[in-house]
Amino acid sequence: MMGSSGFTGRDVISARDFSRVDFERIFKLVDGLEAAPGSMDGVLGGKLAALLFFEPSTRTYSSFQIAAERLGMKVTGFAGPTGSSVTKGETLHDTVRMFEGYGADVFIIRHPKMGAARFAAEITDTPVVSAGDGSREHPTQAMLDLHAIRKAFGKVDGLKVGMLGDLRYGRTSSSLAYALSNFDVEMTFIAPDSLQMRSEVSHFLSRRGVKPKVETALKNVVGSLDVLYVTRIQKERIPDPTEFEKVKGLYEVNLETLRDAKPTLKVMHPLPRVDELSTEVDETDHAHYFVQAAGGLPLRMVILNLVLGGAS
Ligand code: CP
Repeated sequence: MMGSSGFTGRDVISARDFSRVDFERIFKLVDGLEAAPGSMDGVLGGKLAALLFFEPSTRTYSSFQIAAERLGMKVTGFAGPTGSSVTKGETLHDTVRMFEGYGADVFIIRHPKMGAARFAAEITDTPVVSAGDGSREHPTQAMLDLHAIRKAFGKVDGLKVGMLGDLRYGRTSSSLAYALSNFDVEMTFIAPDSLQMRSEVSHFLSRRGVKPKVETALKNVVGSLDVLYVTRIQKERIPDPTEFEKVKGLYEVNLETLRDAKPTLKVMHPLPRVDELSTEVDETDHAHYFVQAAGGLPLRMVILNLVLGGAS
């Protein structure tokens, strides 16, 4: 059994905080769990997970909930602001304090404001796991994305990964870029200028000696890619509706746009998708997004178990 020193009590706020050694350790544990699916059932019996989701979610909420329950934990909290006292104006501070008082052993927080998870971590000694932080970060999504890449190719090093779409307001692509910067990967950011990756991400990568290629058109690079990571235009986060109108429907990945792709290309997407990824791709060998999403359950079981110091 591998112990969990180094992770116990740790906050999971940014993919920047995790090293290659950390990722490889997580992946080894996920591999072990996938090989023996019941092996972690009940190991965190008696503990309480507080899922505080101030924004809607399907995958992240459900997979954390199922993960916690499979580990034997009790789950409390809310799946969106409706139904909680957030609608009456209660603050994040007071909400965290309340669930701390109810004995939460871990907070899993999704919030529309950037920095909310970090703020929560500063006001409580209980570990905080970000489940999506404004337009900035979604660290456990990056972990499951990397795991899905490994699953498809047996490795991460040496791959060419293109990220397409709303790289500016989409939090999953920035977290994935941070995570990939630990590996020998050629990244290409494919987006119109107004949706290109934010400068703080590029600066971080640059400090690590990573210089992604920048493209505006998928057709210029699709034939060279091993992974195409498609993202939705984040209508809800683009500050100016006229800006959204300019980029709405600008790209769609379909059989035609993938015509020159390598047969081994894997198309990924954090989901939900709207119109940027055609369902006609679903039946091809390129489609990897449902495998990707399914991997979120064992990944989140491993993360909760590590953070809470359970045997693994
Ligand atoms: N990928 C992702 O974060 O999906 P949800 O918004 O449904 O949680």
